[in-house]
Amino acid sequence: MKNNKIWITTCLAAFSLGFVQKSEPTLKEAFQNSFYVGAALNKAQFSGKDTKAQELVKKQFNTISPENVLKWGPVHPKPEEYNFKPADDYVAFGQQNKMFIVGHTLVWHQQTPDWVFEDEAGKPVSREVLLKRMENHISTVVGRYKGKIQGWDVVNEAIADQGGQMRPTKWLSIIGEDFAQKAFEYAHKADPQAELYYNDYSLYRPDKREGVIRLVKSLQAKGIKVKAIGMQGHYGLTVPTMEQVEASIVAFSKLGVEVNFTELDIDVLPNPSQRQGADIAETFDADQKFNVYSSGLPDSVQQKLTKRYADLFTLFRKHQDKIGRITFWGVTDANSWLNNWPIKGRTSYPLLFDRQYQPKPAYQAILNMAAQKK
Ligand code: XIL
Repeated sequence: MKNNKIWITTCLAAFSLGFVQKSEPTLKEAFQNSFYVGAALNKAQFSGKDTKAQELVKKQFNTISPENVLKWGPVHPKPEEYNFKPADDYVAFGQQNKMFIVGHTLVWHQQTPDWVFEDEAGKPVSREVLLKRMENHISTVVGRYKGKIQGWDVVNEAIADQGGQMRPTKWLSIIGEDFAQKAFEYAHKADPQAELYYNDYSLYRPDKREGVIRLVKSLQAKGIKVKAIGMQGHYGLTVPTMEQVEASIVAFSKLGVEVNFTELDIDVLPNPSQRQGADIAETFDADQKFNVYSSGLPDSVQQKLTKRYADLFTLFRKHQDKIGRITFWGVTDANSWLNNWPIKGRTSYPLLFDRQYQPKPAYQAILNMAAQKK
């Protein structure tokens, strides 16, 4: 009892003297007047098996993306077989927490089973057959989550890495250049209220930027409403420059679309080819020579990562009128896909939370930036 009294008196004194500080905002609070802040979730995170990650997500983020469960392969593995349970759980988690729920992705050349493009003899199907399959897939998946999933990455990575032409894929070779237009039309029909996006990586590159502008203009010319262009944002410590990212934000927004950063992470690890971008097919054999920080991130690199994130968020805030959301591709470093790509079995450090679920200096730097007057 006596202890209680002392405690209360101390609290009152501290409060009246102004010692009790207001708790610091979380990411979603710090940017509530700027844009949504979110993360891509895996099954353990949205199902709650990874309790600590789920707590972090609820506290920090107001939008979520599905890391894998809504890609064609996972959700529609066989012609007559859909696997909706994981995606249902993902959507339920977002709804329970009143989050902006993103769908990723409807038409992509990766993580799409071969049967989609082939007949029973293994020969390529006709344009008509593939269009029908695309329409069925989109109307089934988008239709199921109508009014729940608020925005869809309709087409992912349709522009080639160099030169800005359409990427050579089975979608392109079998259907032709209008495959993207068709995908957007089917998605719009399945949920007329949903926001529809074009999503891609390396969009800071002038050739890819121009390629996307051409594609989006051609969609707009057909009367299609592209709500936003998603810049994936799989970046390195030095590439791209802030000027390159800024040029794309400005150029895309001139099309009358929003810009979203949809898969943000910063790779601090070296690789054999100085690769940039995020082509998931571009992998290298496991090699410990490239696993340089397996026992911890040196301070000097931590500082570079911190500065890089602070610079990026300074840029994002500068253009907040053009940006709808910033989504990280993962929650903590422990589960980032960059532990296994482009080289399997490495220790990577690309996100704002470490392997103990603790905020890293980059997190603090972003919040400090947000607290400063513009
Ligand atoms: C990645 C996932 O994070 C991995 O778990 C999976 O094995 C491969 O795909 N661009 C995208 C994402 O649009 O869907 C990719 O996600 C990363 C690159």
